[in-house]
Amino acid sequence: MLELGFWCFQRRYCLVSGGAKSIVLIGMMGAGKSSVGRLLQRRTGLACFDADELVAAEFGRSIPEIFAKCGEERFRDAETEVLRKLFLPQPIIIVTGGGIVLRRENVDVLKRLGTVVWLTADDATLFERASRRGERPLLRTQKPRATFSQLLREREPLYAAAAHFKIDTSALTHDEIADEIFDKIEALAPLER
Ligand code: S3P
Repeated sequence: MLELGFWCFQRRYCLVSGGAKSIVLIGMMGAGKSSVGRLLQRRTGLACFDADELVAAEFGRSIPEIFAKCGEERFRDAETEVLRKLFLPQPIIIVTGGGIVLRRENVDVLKRLGTVVWLTADDATLFERASRRGERPLLRTQKPRATFSQLLREREPLYAAAAHFKIDTSALTHDEIADEIFDKIEALAPLER
C-alpha cells in the first residue's frame, strides 16, 4: 500500500512537471526549506541538493565558521559558484540558503533550473524557528530580533520577484506543505505547456 502511494505520488509529480523540472525552495531562515526538501526527496524519490551543504563541503567548514573566518562576501561568492556548477540531467530538489536571492545572477539560474517555491511564515514564527539552535551567523548581533525583521523586510520583495508561488507555512505541517507544493505546481503546469 505504502509502495503504491509512493508510486502514484512520483508518477503524479512526473506528469505535472513534464518530467523535466526541478523544485527550488527559497525563503528566509526558519522557513523550513531543509526539512521540506528532505520530505520532498522522500516522497518523490528525486535527489536533494542543499546549497549550504555544498558550500560547507567546498570549504571543509561549517557555515558559521565560513562567516567567521572568511567573511560573508566569500560565502556569497561560493554560494554563486555552487549554483553555476550545478549540472542537472534530471530534475532534483534544490534547497537554498536564505540569502540566495541577494544576487540577481543566482535568481536567474534558479528560475532556469525549475519551479521556484517561496516558503514563508509570519516574522515571529520565522524568528523563533531560526534562532532555536543559535547557529545563524547573521543573527549574532546585539539585537537579533530587530536584525531579523530588517533582513526580512529587505528580502521579501526579492523572494516575491524570484518565486513562481509562495506558501505560508505558519500553520502547516511539513506534509501539508509538500501537498500544497504539488497542488500549486499542478495548477501552474497548463500555463507552462
Ligand atoms: C543565510 C541563511 C542560511 C545560510 C547563511 C546565510 C541568509 O541558510 O545560508 O547563514 O543570508 O539568510 P538558511 O536559510 O538555511 O538558514
